Amino acid sequence: MDFLAPIQHSIHSLDLVLRTNHSIPEIPHLLNRTVLVGGKRLRPALCFLMGQALGVSAERMYPFARAAEFTHSASLAHDDVVDSAVMRRHYKTINAESSNKKAVLAGDLLLARVMVELSEQGDVEIIHDLSLVVEDLVNGEWLQMDLRGQINTTSDKLIEVSKRKTASLMSWCCKVAARVSSYEESRSELMKHAAAFGENLGIAFQMMDDVIDFQSMGEKDYAKDIKEGLVNYVMSDLLARKPQLQKPVSDILGKSDTQVWPWTEDDLFTSVENVRQHATQFLMAAKENLSQIKQIAQPKDGPSLQSFTSLEGLVDYMTMRQN
Ligand code: FPP
Ligand code: MG
Repeated sequence: MDFLAPIQHSIHSLDLVLRTNHSIPEIPHLLNRTVLVGGKRLRPALCFLMGQALGVSAERMYPFARAAEFTHSASLAHDDVVDSAVMRRHYKTINAESSNKKAVLAGDLLLARVMVELSEQGDVEIIHDLSLVVEDLVNGEWLQMDLRGQINTTSDKLIEVSKRKTASLMSWCCKVAARVSSYEESRSELMKHAAAFGENLGIAFQMMDDVIDFQSMGEKDYAKDIKEGLVNYVMSDLLARKPQLQKPVSDILGKSDTQVWPWTEDDLFTSVENVRQHATQFLMAAKENLSQIKQIAQPKDGPSLQSFTSLEGLVDYMTMRQN
């Protein structure tokens, strides 16, 4: 991913270890060997790229990048409990490593740490916005839970879940960069377009996640959403096109040991392409947001221009990513 080159150093030097502070040592230790290990670091990358595009130093963006990844990790601690997951990123999940009760509490502690560290930045609006994001994450997860077991999930319902569960935090990452930028007069316009960019990118990201869910027929991870009872974007498209599949898919929905699938590779291919097309529409909107930001920001120096190119590269990468 060459487009990440301008911020590679910032990503590498981002310290995502949770110190003991005044907490019982067991809790940071548990987090540091589970939800805080690995991951794509996409949210910090968005903070640093949008920051650099708008002339904000990596040093200034650092606490926000850390807050974004910590918030994401806290949500994963809770998500693994909700999903009764046992593996994440090739390691045992936090709940499997400890217990559901301890995983929930550890997620709470991580979220509290985000609030402590963000409040040290002294900008109430930023904390206010992130608190709204946490509300969105909870509502998104809740809505998704209610969609489990439902065969007639529509793409509109899935978009609502994606906006809240996935796109809201990505949107915050971009918006916060505009918030701390030194564009006094055009700041609110920039914040609006940066937030919209992050949201469009996040929705497309979730759609492509659902495409990836159907990538490895014959492997353990194939159709994980169906096994967990969820009709995702690809399956929703397939069922709308082929209603005769509703009964056989209903029969396997939520069954984790399924190995024989009622659809053909050809059926699936068309739906995968339809979802890829749908994601492309959101990515085109994200590109439009970027050009509006560029028009307002009028970047002149090398690093800013390079970061705009990187953000465009990130948009293009979305439909090609494999994990
Ligand atoms: C991963 O979803 C989960 C999320 C992106 C958000 C989950 C949000 C909550 C559990 C609400 C609580 C939030 C906080 C901040 C405490 P997934 O199951 O589709 O993806 P996965 O395959 O990575 O598990
Ligand atoms: Mg999960």
